Amino acid sequence: MTWAIDLRTVPHWLVVGATRSGKSTLIAALVTQWAPQPIALFGIDLKGGMELSLFEERLSALASTRTQAADLLAELVAEAEARMELCRSVGARSIWELPEKLRRIPIIVIVDEVAELYLMATREEKAEVGEISTNLLRLAQLGAALGIHLVIAGQRVGSDLGPGVTALRAQLAGRICHRVSDPATAEMALGDLDKDALEAAQRITLTEQGVAITFGEDGRWTRARSTRTTPDEARRAARKYAHLAPSWPGLHEAADPAEPDDEGVYL
Ligand SMILES: Nc1ncnc2c1ncn2[C@@H]1O[C@H](COP(=O)(O)OP(=O)(O)OP(=O)(O)O)[C@@H](O)[C@H]1O
Ligand SMILES: [Mg+2]
Repeated sequence: MTWAIDLRTVPHWLVVGATRSGKSTLIAALVTQWAPQPIALFGIDLKGGMELSLFEERLSALASTRTQAADLLAELVAEAEARMELCRSVGARSIWELPEKLRRIPIIVIVDEVAELYLMATREEKAEVGEISTNLLRLAQLGAALGIHLVIAGQRVGSDLGPGVTALRAQLAGRICHRVSDPATAEMALGDLDKDALEAAQRITLTEQGVAITFGEDGRWTRARSTRTTPDEARRAARKYAHLAPSWPGLHEAADPAEPDDEGVYL
């Protein structure tokens, strides 16, 4: 059976796992499949942009510092509010009910290593973290009806990172739990949902990279493995469909919706 993630039924996802458990590979597999579709992709990757910069050509924006992340999230919240206003003005309950000519392009915001967003040292950082936390939560709360989706990955999602993370976690209904190094992380990802799922997650071995327990909308969990996608494959897909990345800010549709050239051109 194919493992599919349907953002229309489960708008936001949390992806956890220990180091080298398969989080970034899953994101690469997702981006590779999203790349040819008419959607806007955004990346937040505070590990110096190392993981998500692979797909930078297909991203409408990539934030690789906390200040950039704070700015990007503020802009995305403004976009969400504009969409909300637009829906309200024509009596639509979601962007999907908007007439064709007013439709807005779906947005997926990918965060790799979410803990980095919440770590802080100085007082200024504290203000920035507060802003990030509020805006992420706001996107999660408003996003579903407005075609704004979050896919948030991290090694740690514990409450030690602050109340913002706990509140955010509660908004991310879709869960994907790879091998974890401590039971607490699995508990954070699955424990509030299903005990058997939690046990299954703890049985994933070191050599089963990419294997995860996933939990969607139907209340049932499955054990699945993402399609193995190499960084090269992901980079190639992002390059091939770079012309589909809407420009940001403003989210204008890509100027040239023509079919991409033969893949060979990009090799
Ligand atoms: N679905 C998969 N099928 C086969 N191998 C996989 C799969 N997912 C991951 N791997 C292998 O595991 C390695 C580590 O995966 P990945 O980089 O995705 O881990 P990660 O969870 O992002 O780690 P980190 O927290 O260190 O960033 C990959 O380089 C790949 O060799
Ligand atoms: Mg990674």
